[in-house]
Amino acid sequence: MKVLTIANLKGGVGKTVTTINASYLLATGYGKNVLLVDNDQQGNCSQFFGVYGYDKPSMTDVMKRNVTAEQVIQHTEYAGLDIIPANLSLAEAEKAVLMDSVTPQQVRLREILRQVKDEYDYVLIDNAPSLGMCVINSLATSDYLIIPAKIDKFTFDGIACLLNQLKTVKEYFNPQIELLGTLITSYRRNDTNQQGAEWLKQAEKYKAFDSHIRWTDKMDESTFTAEPVMVHSPRCGAAKDYKAFVEELLRMVEG
Ligand SMILES: Nc1ncnc2c1ncn2[C@@H]1O[C@H](COP(=O)(O)OP(=O)(O)OP(=O)(O)O)[C@@H](O)[C@H]1O
Ligand SMILES: [Mg+2]
Repeated sequence: MKVLTIANLKGGVGKTVTTINASYLLATGYGKNVLLVDNDQQGNCSQFFGVYGYDKPSMTDVMKRNVTAEQVIQHTEYAGLDIIPANLSLAEAEKAVLMDSVTPQQVRLREILRQVKDEYDYVLIDNAPSLGMCVINSLATSDYLIIPAKIDKFTFDGIACLLNQLKTVKEYFNPQIELLGTLITSYRRNDTNQQGAEWLKQAEKYKAFDSHIRWTDKMDESTFTAEPVMVHSPRCGAAKDYKAFVEELLRMVEG
């Protein structure tokens, strides 16, 4: 089982659409057993897959250590793609974890994933744009970090900060975690994007993926229709780009 954290301190950079589309492709295109963890109180992945709500266990219970993996994992409509949902109560759970000084705070998600390590090939964890305890839990249980990034100055600042946090988590909780790469999203062919992408690609520490994801108005539409973009609009640039990205990811992780 390979565990991937999808994170960036910056909001609105494509973390959620990357998690959704990569999970969908790994499950349906490559026959992998995939678990998507919605580790964001906004619950966007949960809404997308129609499992948002308060009547079933969620990441809140994972953080509070109230639940087993079997109780919290739900199936989606896609074979091979399961999900641990989240909702707004995760914000309060995150605070409760910080108040609990008796049990380790950083490894609660790890405890759950350990229970299903033989059942999934890939776990993809979508994160909130923060550096709270939920994100620390994600990094502490992951093999790799993927950073979706839009080309602007604020995003670059966020990446530098996240990489510092990665160093700390690596030192204290999870020596094996590595940055897999930075994925440029919402790419447009203009000077700013071209120069920004070039800059990112030559800065070795950011490990930019060869693939980048083009901007398309189909992406917003696909979130409304709750379809992966390659289902909603198979011929659009972003659909092709996400396929290329997942191929690149598989080459890097599986050789
Ligand atoms: N390649 C793309 N082309 C056009 N729009 C995109 C693309 N990728 C993402 N978007 C749009 O940008 C918005 C933000 O995407 P998304 O929700 O995935 O970002 P996020 O990083 O998860 O945000 P948050 O930090 O709030 O969780 C969405 O409306 C989405 O449809
Ligand atoms: Mg999101």
